[in-house]
Amino acid sequence: MRGRSRPPARRPARIEVREIELTIDKLGSEGVGVARVDGKPVLVPGALPGERIRARLAGGSAEITEVLEPSPDRVAPPCRHFGTCGGCALQHLGWRTYLDFKRDLVVEALRRQGLGEAPVAAIASSPPGTRRRAVFEAKRAGGTVVLGFHGRASHQIVDLGECPVLLPVLADLLPALRDLLKILLPGAGGATVQLAAGPGGAEVGLVLSAIPDLGQLERLALFAEAQDLARLWWRVGDTAPVPAAQRRSLGLRFGTVPVDPPSGGFLQATAAGEAALTAAVVEAMTGAERVADLFAGCGTFGLALGARAELHAVEGDAAALGALAAAARRAGLGFVTTERRDLESRPLLVTELKRFDAVLFDPPRAGAKAQALHLAQSTVPVVVGVSCNPATFARDARILVDGGYRLESVLPVDQFVWSPHVELVGRFARP
Ligand SMILES: C[S@@+](CC[C@H](N)C(=O)[O-])C[C@H]1O[C@@H](n2cnc3c(N)ncnc32)[C@H](O)[C@@H]1O
Repeated sequence: MRGRSRPPARRPARIEVREIELTIDKLGSEGVGVARVDGKPVLVPGALPGERIRARLAGGSAEITEVLEPSPDRVAPPCRHFGTCGGCALQHLGWRTYLDFKRDLVVEALRRQGLGEAPVAAIASSPPGTRRRAVFEAKRAGGTVVLGFHGRASHQIVDLGECPVLLPVLADLLPALRDLLKILLPGAGGATVQLAAGPGGAEVGLVLSAIPDLGQLERLALFAEAQDLARLWWRVGDTAPVPAAQRRSLGLRFGTVPVDPPSGGFLQATAAGEAALTAAVVEAMTGAERVADLFAGCGTFGLALGARAELHAVEGDAAALGALAAAARRAGLGFVTTERRDLESRPLLVTELKRFDAVLFDPPRAGAKAQALHLAQSTVPVVVGVSCNPATFARDARILVDGGYRLESVLPVDQFVWSPHVELVGRFARP
């Protein structure tokens, strides 16, 4: 390297910061106010449409310093962490307008795919204080442990003293969990805490960076007893969950069928949301005698169909599928078959689809494009899509509509209150 001069170190571009006054045009899809400055969009968290604000502008975003003319829809946020915690974006918006915003996310996603004519029903909402699953981050900070969601647009953890979104049975665990984590977390360690609840009680899951020693395992069992948990499990990284306490079942039923989901298994986020989604799915499948439930999980929807139809449940996760099969066996549902299959790389083919008179798909956020392409060429009379992402649902819906299906009805469902996430059920039929 001798004789060669180093390239000059690149200075990061300086972002100019300036105080300006803005009028907010609309709420963006992330629940953030959007204004225009010099013809370019600027994102303003915490601002509402129509508001005149003073703000500190830096690049493409601005921070409110004063609300000069508040929106008539502005309300006092119920949680003291609102604004710093990344869990909620919309606590400052009146309930009716908030629900309209959520429904509009679905309408707009469909419109972008040329499906603006599809009938979208009023949104089914879940009240605050009913969320039955959440994932928190924890980190040791000196002598204490911080535990909560990540901050808004930040990797810092907001130490939550309250969370009005959660079921009280979960929110009330936070102080005791902090004490437990002081024992489990080494020097600068962190953990992920997965909470879930059913009528039978709460489940705590701990994703740790090291296997707990015997003393720590004992503390876990004592914690489960002291907090009257239904179940407590731990795992390191991506390994399988290890039960530390199995005191009773979560008491979940899909329809009338009792189901014991695996540790950390998928669960719809609120009981009210699950009921709304299930009612819409069951109604959409009325009269179907042979049903495929794709991305079935532990059978939230398929098992809820009960004895109404022969059911073929397809799912990629072995533990979830095992729970579904065991529940069907215990309930004597001899007409339920299960298949473990990766539906992304191996979707059901047209020849396999022809034996069903209704197919349900409920994929993760990425959607079910590969499966939609095969469904679009099939003769299945009714297809029902459940989705947690209106954009990928609308993309898949476009594929089905281009294949000759009609999108007959859409029900938006709000399970993630005050967040910009919305779910939905859509029914497609061949005319
Ligand atoms: C949104 S959850 C829905 C589960 C179930 N329908 C319910 O409501 O409880 C999506 C499900 O798809 C499964 N999954 C994800 N990717 C998959 C794939 N490529 N093939 C099959 N199943 C997959 C997940 O394991 C999960 O159970």
